[in-house]
Amino acid sequence: MVVVSGSNSGAMAEQLADALGWSHHALETRRFPDTEGYVRIPSTLIETVRSEPVVLVSNTFPDSGIVETLLMLEAINDVRRGDLQNLREIGPQTLPDVGKGVFLAVPYFGYSRQDKRFKPGESISAKSIANLMAGQCDGIIVLDIHAPEVLSDLKVPIAFTSAMPELAEHLKATVDPDFILSPDKGAIARATQVANQIDCEFSYLEKTRIDAHTIVHKAKNLDVAGKRVAIVDDMIATGGTICRAAEALRNQGALQVHAACSHGLFTGGAIARLLRYVDGVHATGSLANARDVISGGPALARGVHQLMDELGLSNN
Ligand code: R5P
Repeated sequence: MVVVSGSNSGAMAEQLADALGWSHHALETRRFPDTEGYVRIPSTLIETVRSEPVVLVSNTFPDSGIVETLLMLEAINDVRRGDLQNLREIGPQTLPDVGKGVFLAVPYFGYSRQDKRFKPGESISAKSIANLMAGQCDGIIVLDIHAPEVLSDLKVPIAFTSAMPELAEHLKATVDPDFILSPDKGAIARATQVANQIDCEFSYLEKTRIDAHTIVHKAKNLDVAGKRVAIVDDMIATGGTICRAAEALRNQGALQVHAACSHGLFTGGAIARLLRYVDGVHATGSLANARDVISGGPALARGVHQLMDELGLSNN
């Protein structure tokens, strides 16, 4: 099999290809002056894309990532179907259909946070975006999505994978935490997994989100005095959740506080804000970010294997 990528996930695609021992190729992507996107499978890759199943690594974030992902899937599907007709009549215009075998690996699934309808009339954005992608591929791999349940009834199989094993390995090697904290109930499963792997204490906070920038944590006694604590979450956006949790930890005597996540969105000066509260910030490169210190490749590779096993394609 072969790994390809567009403009937003080249580094993750490289890491995935390394983890699987496959080759990685960049597709041609650029922007027209009005910012609309253009994608093309270079002539040198047409045979590669047709001769083996393809894993496209691409984020549905920011919005331009959604369009680029759809355009790349469409182009790959056309090439695999043998539909190469072009106005300049370059190369063969048609070739035999080589059948199914287009998979999408999404390091950061944009729009995953609107996973429920909180008020009548809202769109469930996570589902809408997933359905768009599912219409253009034969299976999807998603890394550390906030609420996997929202993608439960897609028309193609989906593999959920997580970078928590690599995150635990990294924290153990660099921080050696005594205590892992989940900043809210939603991150308990992930943070517990990290605590178990490191073999250290664990607890969680109860968070109420007032608005996108305001977080309130319920007071809780944590046995963290003199300890090195790592707060583990799926994503850090404004950093508000981590800053409030770090404050609670410092007030209770934590010696060191670190923040670790799969997805470092780090919006609006989040890193500077975080560094006023924590001793270190650690993330994967699911999104390009200044704290990318954990490889997401092995996690994506586990997702690919899971999907291939499910589809009976493991020998490819
Ligand atoms: C929400 O429950 C997520 O797991 C994160 O805790 C949240 O998205 C982080 O956002 P922020 O950094 O803006 O507090």
